Amino acid sequence: MESTKVSQDCVRGTKRSWKWRIIRIIILVLLLLFLYWNNNALSVTQYLYQNPEVPQGFEGYRIVHLSDLHNKVFGGENEPLLEQIAALDPDLIVLTGDFVDASNHTNYDKARLFMQQISKIAPSYYVLGNHEQLLPEEEMQQFLADVVSYGVHHVQDEMITISAENGDSLQLIGLSNRSLYTTKLKTMMAEESKEALYLLLAHEPQLIDHYAETGVDLVFSGHAHGGQFRIPFVNIGIYAPDQGLFPNLVEGMHTVQNTTIVVSRGLGNSAFPFRLFNRPEIVCVTLSAG
Ligand SMILES: [Fe+2]
Repeated sequence: MESTKVSQDCVRGTKRSWKWRIIRIIILVLLLLFLYWNNNALSVTQYLYQNPEVPQGFEGYRIVHLSDLHNKVFGGENEPLLEQIAALDPDLIVLTGDFVDASNHTNYDKARLFMQQISKIAPSYYVLGNHEQLLPEEEMQQFLADVVSYGVHHVQDEMITISAENGDSLQLIGLSNRSLYTTKLKTMMAEESKEALYLLLAHEPQLIDHYAETGVDLVFSGHAHGGQFRIPFVNIGIYAPDQGLFPNLVEGMHTVQNTTIVVSRGLGNSAFPFRLFNRPEIVCVTLSAG
């Protein structure tokens, strides 16, 4: 009698443990799917930049801003990424660094593939991030030569005039990451009459006070990866390089003095392999005189 009871308890216990094992597996699968979605489902953020200095020929001008791809490839060959960018119908594409990763998954071929693809959508302008500056000089020079041969403009510490169809123009400055901490930008802007609209491509956003001091109008940055993990509902990032815990400049549009900075959460990951509540971001800024 007693042994029958023991064996019934044993069967019940085994059934219960199987039930819990299945529940645990389902929870794990759901978590993995959620993580995959967090890191692969692209989001598009659109901003309107209003400034009376926007020339008439640039009214409604659309700039797609991409950053920090870190050798990630969306889909088989970036199809979802390219489709969403093309759907935004950009007049200009700006690429603010860290497209080649310098940690454990450096892959020039993946970055080459992306550069070839992006230049076919709209005129594209690329500045280097902190990752590209860590790579061997010779390899980077070869990569940059290839990038330029695909039609992407590598903007290295220079000011380029972008012209509209009606002859209006704006000035696009690109600083390589190496030059962000120097007085190069200040020197460049000191020679300007400040009648034009000045756009700056600079990988690191935490130097905003330095950029604002020079009088540039609109800055595009990345680098902070949205704070890597974000706290949902309150929308706060946890950590960013060079800004530490609970950083301020990890996404969004911010204004300091007369300078506006747009910070992209970026598209990929570096040594830390995933992001949470922080989907890969395509940014699109429309210019208007207001
Ligand atoms: Fe990065």
